[in-house]
Amino acid sequence: MCVWLAICWIRNPVQELRNKRAVPPRTLRLMSEVSRRSVLRGVGGGLIGLGGLQALLNSGSALTPPSGFLDVEERESLASLLQEQRPMTPERDRGPFAFLGAPYRGKVSPAMCSGKPMVVHGQIFGHDSKQPLTDARLEVWHADAAGQYSMDKRGDYRARLLADESGYYEFETIHPFQYQLGPNRWRSPHIHFMIAASGYKTLVTQLFFDGDPMQDDDFLFREELKMPVERRQVEGKELEVVKFDIVMEPGTGIKELRFGEVF
Ligand SMILES: [Fe+2]
Repeated sequence: MCVWLAICWIRNPVQELRNKRAVPPRTLRLMSEVSRRSVLRGVGGGLIGLGGLQALLNSGSALTPPSGFLDVEERESLASLLQEQRPMTPERDRGPFAFLGAPYRGKVSPAMCSGKPMVVHGQIFGHDSKQPLTDARLEVWHADAAGQYSMDKRGDYRARLLADESGYYEFETIHPFQYQLGPNRWRSPHIHFMIAASGYKTLVTQLFFDGDPMQDDDFLFREELKMPVERRQVEGKELEVVKFDIVMEPGTGIKELRFGEVF
């Protein structure tokens, strides 16, 4: 019984090939049984010992099909199917510098893009508990240094991020530029956030930057969402650092999704 279960467990490339070619289920079942009986005969007259089974498992990633069972086209397809199987990656010592619990960090802007570098970080809290949330997820997106949004699958200036077990998140990007939506309808530089956490309403909001002159003309600007911009010199270049803590409302669903927050 154990031997039969072990044989059933072995990955059957003939079965995979039949599945790919959408052969009717009844035919598939019959071919599979024939294949296994043939393998049993070939390995030990219908009885595989543990040593034989181990040798079979060690011999490769799949069983060799019995001769005469597949036509030419099927053999060629099976050969390409076997080539798709990849060997497992070897292990190596993790070395003396490894430690568990590296920080959660993200990068929202694409590599080598133009713009003023910026790091945004903060902590996510529950309004009821006043404690950091341990499982918060963020989605972040913003315009580039010319005020343009990427809308293709590359997802430039967009990222999904995880906060760590203390609710902390951090990402690197560039300072977004302003843009115009229509006559007398401007958007000052901002970063969009959508934050989700278990037991809390998903929050859709935006981050604004203190000192930006465009905010007086921004019809979606909110004073409470404006954060100070700290400027640091790093190897002769200026780096902007912005702290944006977020407080979530208990419940389910989306907290608030008003017209305009998608801009
Ligand atoms: Fe926007």
